[in-house]
Amino acid sequence: MKLFAFANQKGGVGKTTLAVHMAIHAHNMGFRTLLVDLDQQGSATFLATGDGDRHQTMDGTALDLWYPDRKIPVQTSPIFGFDFLQASAGLDAVDDDAAAAVLALRRLDTLEKADEGPGAFYHLVVVDCPPAPGVRQVAPLLIADKHIAPVTPDALGTQGLLSLVQTYTGHIRPDNPKLEFKVLINRVKANSATNLTIASALLEGFPDWVMPHQLYEREDVRKGLRLGKPYWEACRDDAQRDAWYQTFYSLLQDVPDDEDNPDSREVQEPDDAEEILTKQREGGEQ
Ligand SMILES: Nc1ncnc2c1ncn2[C@@H]1O[C@H](COP(=O)(O)OP(=O)(O)OP(=O)(O)O)[C@@H](O)[C@H]1O
Ligand SMILES: [Mg+2]
Repeated sequence: MKLFAFANQKGGVGKTTLAVHMAIHAHNMGFRTLLVDLDQQGSATFLATGDGDRHQTMDGTALDLWYPDRKIPVQTSPIFGFDFLQASAGLDAVDDDAAAAVLALRRLDTLEKADEGPGAFYHLVVVDCPPAPGVRQVAPLLIADKHIAPVTPDALGTQGLLSLVQTYTGHIRPDNPKLEFKVLINRVKANSATNLTIASALLEGFPDWVMPHQLYEREDVRKGLRLGKPYWEACRDDAQRDAWYQTFYSLLQDVPDDEDNPDSREVQEPDDAEEILTKQREGGEQ
């Protein structure tokens, strides 16, 4: 099982939107996928269910992970088809104990997907973290394979990125050396010269961390999700459609579909991969 944590202490950068896209893509590619909503605001729960009040409960939520004698209450998104653990407005009750949170999340390692028989562990767990530094952000990072940090390309976003890098190199990485750090530039305003300058400076400055595709601020991102579609199916602009698709496609590349046989899955290249790559190369030379 691989665990991807979408985390950034800054609010509104797209953690939830992008975590849900990750779950949609992995599910559509045939991976057993579980989205875990650890934010007491329940935004991912809302996107997965269309029900904005769903998280106003303490029963049958991600909180149950903290109680080893309780069953893990997995649900299936009626909109997207991936499995998820819903949020609870009471999730902040567990914020005083990082070790307990790590144990709680470790239960997911051996969680089997219902109705697929013994040994059908999840291939990918996607955790949507709350926008505050704390136990529910740090614990997922301590066991994650990838920390995906959406950032907005503005002065505040850049400052936030620096503090993320400090947390990562100072506190998380030493305890979880396998963790990969990926920065995903989101909500780029195409008509803002500052946004575009900062976005390319980030990519140039941190090429190992910053993912090459930039995701633009577009009204139809939200619309698409409401229609049950990932952005690449709702988007009418080729360049952004490819940027979104390629981002999630590349994040999924090293997720094995079978714990015993990491090479068993061959994810098909999209038919137009070559075309996209050529377009990018040409774009890069201008
Ligand atoms: N690329 C985008 N284009 C347009 N709107 C976007 C984009 N990404 C996110 N949004 C919108 O921005 C708002 C914040 O996004 P989201 O909830 O995903 O951020 P978040 O980081 O999870 O926020 P929070 O910190 O509150 O959890 C939402 O209304 C979402 O629809
Ligand atoms: Mg969120």
